[in-house]
Amino acid sequence: MSFPSFELLDHKRPILVFGRDGQIGKALQVSLNHIKAPVVYLGRSDCDLSNESLITKVLNKFQPQIIINAAAYTAVDKAEDTSQHELVFAINTKAPALMAHHIANVPHGILVHYSTDYVFSDTKKTPYLEVDVAGPVEQLCVYGQSKLAGEKAIEESFNFSHNSNYVNCQDKRSRYFILRTSWVYGDGDNFIRNILRLGSVRDRLNVVVDQLGTPTSAQWLAELGVMLVETTLESGVYHAVPDGETSWHALAVFAIEIAAASGDGMKLKSQNIIPISAREYPFIVARPYNSRLSNEKLKKALSAIGYMSEYPNWQEQVECYVNASVKQSLKINWQVK
Ligand SMILES: NC(=O)c1ccc[n+]([C@@H]2O[C@H](COP(=O)([O-])OP(=O)(O)OC[C@H]3O[C@@H](n4cnc5c(N)ncnc54)[C@H](OP(=O)(O)O)[C@@H]3O)[C@@H](O)[C@H]2O)c1
Repeated sequence: MSFPSFELLDHKRPILVFGRDGQIGKALQVSLNHIKAPVVYLGRSDCDLSNESLITKVLNKFQPQIIINAAAYTAVDKAEDTSQHELVFAINTKAPALMAHHIANVPHGILVHYSTDYVFSDTKKTPYLEVDVAGPVEQLCVYGQSKLAGEKAIEESFNFSHNSNYVNCQDKRSRYFILRTSWVYGDGDNFIRNILRLGSVRDRLNVVVDQLGTPTSAQWLAELGVMLVETTLESGVYHAVPDGETSWHALAVFAIEIAAASGDGMKLKSQNIIPISAREYPFIVARPYNSRLSNEKLKKALSAIGYMSEYPNWQEQVECYVNASVKQSLKINWQVK
């Protein structure tokens, strides 16, 4: 595999990763292992992303040519509390805007930023395309509003920079990748982990059946982010999910059956996972009925640059996750919670 873009990088400047302790942030630490350039991983204690002057200070100190931003205010329900709004927008909108402003003005600079299907208002019945108009904001939850505003701020920073200064020169042009994804699971709190934990202590569970999406591995998202840095792919928004779609209920059944087949003492039998409608489940923020993102643009782009060999489907990723990481790391916790 050749890394056409990677050769253009100044290897004395570190790659800056925000969100070190999150699901994708932890996965990035694995994926960036092979990179020969220095990498600096920043958690909340190193750089609180609600503090603008601190972010500027950190960017000035490290002068990164590449930033991978896996940090976000992700507590969707809590974000609705008016006391949180300023904080949510600081982390999900202003912080990425500052990162974009920095990278947009760096020759060969790259910003990889993770985003979400919550930027759509849940009115479409088929998978969302990148060309579908996100919003309108008044129909989005606060988390979705803040992530959409973050995306727009990134795009504006790069457009402004490319139209106004020396980075405009095509052969030095900085790039951004906004990777919208859904239903992420990795080393952290997530749906599959919760189902496995509950499955070890409960013999019956109600799970929502009428909301659809694609479970996405944090490790795969991290690998994709790193791979994009190493390619010459065009800037833009990409929907980053594996192939296929499912409901929360079918995902729960799938995960429990894999765990049971691996002999891991599940108390819950898959036939006792009861399908319920979303209306019967007390969310503060209604989860989208349609979280499906079309990955055609990403697949086409990867294919065009020769990276298309094995595009994954969600089942193989979930199977791997249940069998390996969750099963191992939660074996003890399952019994005590
Ligand atoms: N999880 C999903 O299902 C999902 C779905 C679609 C899109 N996404 C997107 O994927 C990205 C990563 O998701 P994830 O699941 O990895 O999230 P996560 O596990 O919740 O991690 C988010 C990270 O952001 C950090 N963070 C929050 N506030 C901060 C602050 N003020 N200063 C510095 N760091 C702060 C958190 O730090 P602490 O560890 O200190 O709290 C945490 O490590 C986000 O952009 C999210 O919008 C996620």
